Amino acid sequence: MTVTAVQTAATLPLTGRIAVVTGASSGIGAATARLLAARGARVALLARRVDRLDGLAAELGEAALPVRVDVADPASVQEGTALITERLGRVDLVVNNAGVMLAAPFADRRTGDWQRMIDTNLTGALRVVDAFLPDLLAAAADGRTADLVNISSIAAHAVFPSFAVYCATKAALSHFSRNLRTELGPRKVRVTSIEPGLVATELQGHLDHPDVNAVIDDWRKAFDWLSDADLAELIAFTVARPRHVNFPQIVAMPTEQV
Ligand SMILES: NC(=O)c1ccc[n+]([C@@H]2O[C@H](COP(=O)([O-])OP(=O)(O)OC[C@H]3O[C@@H](n4cnc5c(N)ncnc54)[C@H](OP(=O)(O)O)[C@@H]3O)[C@@H](O)[C@H]2O)c1
Repeated sequence: MTVTAVQTAATLPLTGRIAVVTGASSGIGAATARLLAARGARVALLARRVDRLDGLAAELGEAALPVRVDVADPASVQEGTALITERLGRVDLVVNNAGVMLAAPFADRRTGDWQRMIDTNLTGALRVVDAFLPDLLAAAADGRTADLVNISSIAAHAVFPSFAVYCATKAALSHFSRNLRTELGPRKVRVTSIEPGLVATELQGHLDHPDVNAVIDDWRKAFDWLSDADLAELIAFTVARPRHVNFPQIVAMPTEQV
């Protein structure tokens, strides 16, 4: 390799990659989209809040394509996928990140909240895999690097009072990733489940249960949480490894969260 090629590989390791990031309108998704673009990828930004997506796309320029997608709506995912194929071509990197965390003490019977979490965190995630799997398999068959990164949570393993349904959706997503890898790994598509502890984003802003909010506020004061940029760095590093290297499961915790 020439010196220039070595420099490009070091600073722009994702040159030529076509990425999809769901939940790109805030938090981990927005930070990840920003970093993937900075490292050379073209990135489709998916979420429902178009004003946020447009703002990020304006910042990233030609590298970004904002696409309004509600992962809980099959028709919306189908339309978004068609637009991405038309504008960017074959996708080889999917960061399946859209999610919602609602406090739902089980005896409160917040069935609407259960459904929203299941539809977004689990069914929505499956829908996104379904939409882009043909592209990932084709990219891998062509000898290119292909990645599916599912953003799960430490909630897949730990127990949190009032979050039984959220934890169940993340446990299901992690176990789905583990099993899917047995099908996709032999076909050279990497599957990675990332399982963070507390990350300072808007996620906790949707909580509307006074007791739960008080606990979260105490944790916020007690120790330094991870940042969205910490997670973006981890994801960008993971997908830039040589294609024979796969991290199936990564747990990322604030040092003081036990
Ligand atoms: N923050 C944490 O402590 C933490 C810890 C572990 C795991 N996680 C996981 O990390 C992921 C990202 O969360 P975050 O912390 O970055 O929170 P966030 O800032 O609230 O971001 C959530 C993203 O998901 C999108 N989203 C929600 N429902 C959607 C839907 N139906 N269709 C499309 N997009 C949807 C939101 O966009 P729109 O509202 O614009 O659609 C937003 O961009 C989630 O899966 C979360 O469970 C977070």
